[in-house]
Amino acid sequence: MKKDIKLIAATVVAMGLLASPIASAKEIVIKFSHVTTEATPKGKGAMLFKKLVDERLGGKVRVEVYPSSQLYGDKAVLKALLLNDVQLAAPSLSKFSKYTKQWALFDLPFLFKNPQALNCFTDSTKGQALLGAAERKGIKGLGYWLNGMKQISANHALINPEDAKGLKFRIMSSDVLKAQFEAVDANPQKMAFSEVYNALATGVIDGQENTWSNIRSKKFFEVQKDTTISNHGVLEYALVTNKRFWNSLPTDIRMQLDQIVKEVTVQVTQFALDAAVKDMQTVADSGKTNIHTLTDSQKQQWVSAMKPVWAQFEDQVGKDNIAAVQQCNAKN
Ligand code: LMR
Repeated sequence: MKKDIKLIAATVVAMGLLASPIASAKEIVIKFSHVTTEATPKGKGAMLFKKLVDERLGGKVRVEVYPSSQLYGDKAVLKALLLNDVQLAAPSLSKFSKYTKQWALFDLPFLFKNPQALNCFTDSTKGQALLGAAERKGIKGLGYWLNGMKQISANHALINPEDAKGLKFRIMSSDVLKAQFEAVDANPQKMAFSEVYNALATGVIDGQENTWSNIRSKKFFEVQKDTTISNHGVLEYALVTNKRFWNSLPTDIRMQLDQIVKEVTVQVTQFALDAAVKDMQTVADSGKTNIHTLTDSQKQQWVSAMKPVWAQFEDQVGKDNIAAVQQCNAKN
């Protein structure tokens, strides 16, 4: 009898270990790997997350932040996340096509009118449901983090869509972005973020698209003679974790982390809105790139050239999601 009880006790302990192989009674370490510098909306968000965890969960949870692709680039980080080698990452939604096709919605050119419309959608019931799109693959979306509207640059002025013809543009790994540049007869090249500056500097590529924050922090403006205020697309991140890891956390800790994520997400929006203004000003003041503003009719030409791309992807991203974004556009 005694033996049986011991055996049962040992089995229960073993099962407990098996059911919760990742989180233990020891300090929980959360490695957060990302690709931008610390002086960006995402970089600041990661540091704020670490600070709040230190303050509220110090001794129980420790966050280690690895910025600037120090640990992983965005392709590798998602593999590492699934192996639980890192526990948090925040790649652009454009980089998840292996895990969900639905997040391609965010890449549709000229879909979102402004960051406010983007926030309106991500806060909506549809937007929140979409955050779970990669869960089947083990990737849990914890929140959307804003960066902002993308601008386009090259070494000559991009005023009409014809100006992009034949140029090689770096894109993130997204088929929508590929189609977007093919729609203006340009040559899109998928490339890691960390390689863009050198590729521009050495002429391996002619141009790029990104937000003011990334154009400034990665110094793209120093190697691009002309930058157009195109606001043709958005850069939005998914703050993601390994679903199994997150679910294995003690409930009280998980709830506190969820609360911290919520608070940081609100702050990241503010960091991003501020960066869009300040970083554009810094780039303009540098005098290293000519900044071009489009007239309404010039902008309309880009819209007409790029918007047909939607038809190729609307089944994949959901016409209902597109309609929900349009409702947000109307309100903002
Ligand atoms: C890019 O690759 O251009 C961006 O996704 C980088 C980033 O994380 O902002």
